[in-house]
Amino acid sequence: MKTIILAFGTRPEATKMAPVYTALQQTEGLRPLILSTGQQRVQLDGALSAFGIRPDEDLQVMTERQTLADLTGKIVPQAGKMLRRMGADMVLVHGDTTTSFCVALSAFYEGIPVGHVEAGLRSGSLSEPFPEEANRRLTGVLSTLDFAPTSGAATNLRREGKPEGGLFVTGQTAVDAVRMVAGRVPLRPEWQARLDAGQRLVTITMHRRENLPVMPELARALAEVAAAHPELYFVYPVSLNPAVREAVFPVLSNLSNLELCEPLDYHDMAPLMAASELLATDSGGLQEEGAALGVPVAVLRNVTERPEGVAAGVLKLAGNDGPQVRRVLLELLADPETLSRMKQARNPYGDGQAAGRVAQAVAWHFGLSERPQDWIDSELD
Ligand code: UD1
Repeated sequence: MKTIILAFGTRPEATKMAPVYTALQQTEGLRPLILSTGQQRVQLDGALSAFGIRPDEDLQVMTERQTLADLTGKIVPQAGKMLRRMGADMVLVHGDTTTSFCVALSAFYEGIPVGHVEAGLRSGSLSEPFPEEANRRLTGVLSTLDFAPTSGAATNLRREGKPEGGLFVTGQTAVDAVRMVAGRVPLRPEWQARLDAGQRLVTITMHRRENLPVMPELARALAEVAAAHPELYFVYPVSLNPAVREAVFPVLSNLSNLELCEPLDYHDMAPLMAASELLATDSGGLQEEGAALGVPVAVLRNVTERPEGVAAGVLKLAGNDGPQVRRVLLELLADPETLSRMKQARNPYGDGQAAGRVAQAVAWHFGLSERPQDWIDSELD
């Protein structure tokens, strides 16, 4: 029996790793365990509860207003010891967080092979998103197995010289996750009542570190868009990061058709996104979830590491300049034809079977299975 540790610490990692955990549980010869770093103590539990999963171990590294260096200084020495204690034969990390990079580094020092889920995304700019672009590149240097969600991400890894043998195109596990929850869980009654009364929903999220300096300006743009569209009801779950809250609350509190709420558990977030007319966000995961649900996404960033959604037509880069974001959102909302075209765009991120491919690849690594077939998005190639 091989022990596979899934290590993560933030909400999006938990959501996207939950289907992988389930798939590993169903794979003969593999025993998955979860190591939480606790980078985001509160938000993580809410993400996992939607899937009925609990961490087996928790490093509890989070402190109020932690810096990236604080996190790194705590995770690197602790994770390796814990992985040894848990009997890790392999550790799986996800994407681009500081948790992922630090656990990968720690595992590398311990001689434990690393599998990287959501490998190969690149914006091409080390400063956007910061520090995620560096985290995912550094994790890629340390990983033995790379699970690229798209053929484009695999191409990025080949360009960086990653060996073909450890490279798999799996599709994006966010598609698996959103399908496991949306459609099965009802929308919160208060938002359903808005829909029943003829209002349409827009979901907003903003938390990127590189957007912090412009966040008050972005918030003002959103306030103006909300004022121009009383027929819409905007729901904005605000990150627990105090720097984000200080930027957003003074501008967006007390608007009649914009609700600021606490971060949502996935069983509230998934139906909210699915019922929305539009997502306006600087998040990475919401770009994939919007594409999977057929909900248009205005991306509040200058660059995206998810160009497939822009090419397919479901994502629109709106930048992070207040007046420009205001203009792009007002144009989109006044243009039902474009919105409807975006809704019908093909989902370039997967078929909902990504987690099964990851599990099979891990089993293949240990000689327990055939190598999985890559997921091929033929329309993209
Ligand atoms: C981190 C990830 C980002 C991911 C996001 C999802 C890094 C570098 N960034 O962003 O890629 O999209 O999580 O949420 O890993 N805090 C609380 N309670 C919580 C969570 C956070 O108080 O439950 C506070 C922390 O004390 C911290 C701040 O919020 O000071 C930011 O938390 P952090 O985990 O560093 O999040 P981000 O960098 O915003």
